[in-house]
Amino acid sequence: AAERRVSDDLAKVTFTPVRPNRRDAVVTAPGFDHEVVMRWGDRVVHGAPDFDVHAQTAEAARMQFGYNCDYVGVHPLRDRAKDHKDRVLLVVNHEYTDEQIMFPGDTYTDAEIAEIGLANHGMSVVELRRGMVPGSWRPVTNLKKAKYNRRIHHRTEFKVTGPAAGDDRLKTSQDPTGTRVLGTFNNCAGGMTPWGTSLSGEENFNQYFQATGELDARYTEEYARYGIGAGGSGRNWHTVEERFDLTAEPHEPHRHGWIVEVDPFAPDEAPVKHTMLGRFKHEGANVIVSKGHAVAYMGDDERGDYLYKFVSAKKVAKGSSEKARRRNKRLLTKGTLYVARLTGDGSADGLYDGTGEWIPLCSDTESFVPGMSVADVLIFTRLAADQVSPTKMDRPEDVEPNPVNGKVYAALTNNSQRGSRFEPDEANPITTSMVRSSIGAPLTEASGNRNGYVLEMTADGKDHTRTTFTWDLMLVCGDPEAPETYFAGYDKAQVSPISCPDNVAFDSAGNLWISTDGNVLGSNDGIFRVPVVGSERGHVQQFVTMPRGAEACGPLITDRNRSLFFAVQHPGEIDGATFEDQASTWPHTDDFPRPSVVVAFRRR
Ligand code: FEO
Ligand code: CA
Ligand code: CA
Ligand code: CA
Repeated sequence: AAERRVSDDLAKVTFTPVRPNRRDAVVTAPGFDHEVVMRWGDRVVHGAPDFDVHAQTAEAARMQFGYNCDYVGVHPLRDRAKDHKDRVLLVVNHEYTDEQIMFPGDTYTDAEIAEIGLANHGMSVVELRRGMVPGSWRPVTNLKKAKYNRRIHHRTEFKVTGPAAGDDRLKTSQDPTGTRVLGTFNNCAGGMTPWGTSLSGEENFNQYFQATGELDARYTEEYARYGIGAGGSGRNWHTVEERFDLTAEPHEPHRHGWIVEVDPFAPDEAPVKHTMLGRFKHEGANVIVSKGHAVAYMGDDERGDYLYKFVSAKKVAKGSSEKARRRNKRLLTKGTLYVARLTGDGSADGLYDGTGEWIPLCSDTESFVPGMSVADVLIFTRLAADQVSPTKMDRPEDVEPNPVNGKVYAALTNNSQRGSRFEPDEANPITTSMVRSSIGAPLTEASGNRNGYVLEMTADGKDHTRTTFTWDLMLVCGDPEAPETYFAGYDKAQVSPISCPDNVAFDSAGNLWISTDGNVLGSNDGIFRVPVVGSERGHVQQFVTMPRGAEACGPLITDRNRSLFFAVQHPGEIDGATFEDQASTWPHTDDFPRPSVVVAFRRR
């Protein structure tokens, strides 16, 4: 019986890694189970109708779990009354929609598809209770009593905070004050703050804007730097809400591309958009408290874009009293915004490593970029950063401090144009990668950085308020058989292949967990555990694989390392798939795929 006593602690447990596969399933390491927690269309708030894929409406979508879940936050319920100590609040982003596999052909008009797609964006807050097996969690079924449950959508009013709030360039006919914005779109990753809120990044917001006529000539350069153009992604939202027409509302895109903060414990409070954290294609934001200040690390996910951090002016108020929480919810409105420059120390040491500098862009009262005001820097952060020569990175996704060792880990997902449009440097060194067309196929050469990196940053003196740091590429991802790959020096024969890191998370022992998006080694995406210290540093092991076409998102280890939450985003998103001809039917409750949040735990 001794071998049956396997730990349920995900930080400690020894497991057999999941092998690369193309199954249309969530496959966990042997000895673990998983359950689907919330699916696209599941009821979130009281009064929501049951989901019917053939009778979708925008009104229903505003009450149901949205599409393409990405960020996952899990907050222990602070209301300690009675049976509430085994309850948590799940906070989820709904990044975007896949219209071609969401809607049966010939059922919906173009306007209905636009409106329903729009309503499937945003965020959800869902109260969960413990399941039967330790580490498992289920939604509370009596929605009448689930008073925190909430769907944040295109009609939810956000308050704009920080120095750029009220700026003329944020004003529209709908909001002449420039301080109230409806909705949040393309929310990718995020993070939980020490004061019990969730931050969420508005990422590829540019795609939702189109133009029926001329573009405003005042913003030619700004639109171009943010990828805003007349065609957008062709979702035609401007036909159902005029604000998405650039010709009619040239300022509306300036009201998106921010970090938003949601207090899941205040369901009636307007969530906020924090202008102090800059405007770009925000992947997410993760906070660490250092010298008493809140320091938020952020990535701008575009080829050749930058790493950022924000340091609050004020100190974090201790405790979880309402007074302390109210103060802390204002921390991200004043402080200093920085962008990163990384310098290599040469390749003679055989390592990709060096020193780094945080270059200040502006504080809440002063701009450090010549010719730009504080509001200019915050609204057009990319253009401000361009002027101070930061390091052009290979698509910074999650950037997250490890609460155990205090180092910061950034997923640099890939950059097919490194070596062509972008010069290599020591922090972005790979210009040729080995990839596979399918599992078992030979490795072949592809230009650029195709498999990505994990960057490790160490703040000087472990003080995150300082402007200097050292860095190293802890992982050069890819197939262990490929010559360019590197796993912190760990024996390459012992590691799982890993491709395109996207989100990172930590268990309470400080192990790094990595989810991937866009595997180019022939396998489905997945989630990996890798220790960052000791003799096991660099031992990458695959814990779970995703269904066909899905990326893995938002890993979160909680409940004393017994629960691994994650989001299965865009199952079945494969070129040519349609509603009638699906590439995935996961989670196999229907004949079409349903993006879902899942929890994995030790089998009993
Ligand atoms: Fe939405 Fe950067 O991934
Ligand atoms: Ca070096
Ligand atoms: Ca992402
Ligand atoms: Ca990604």
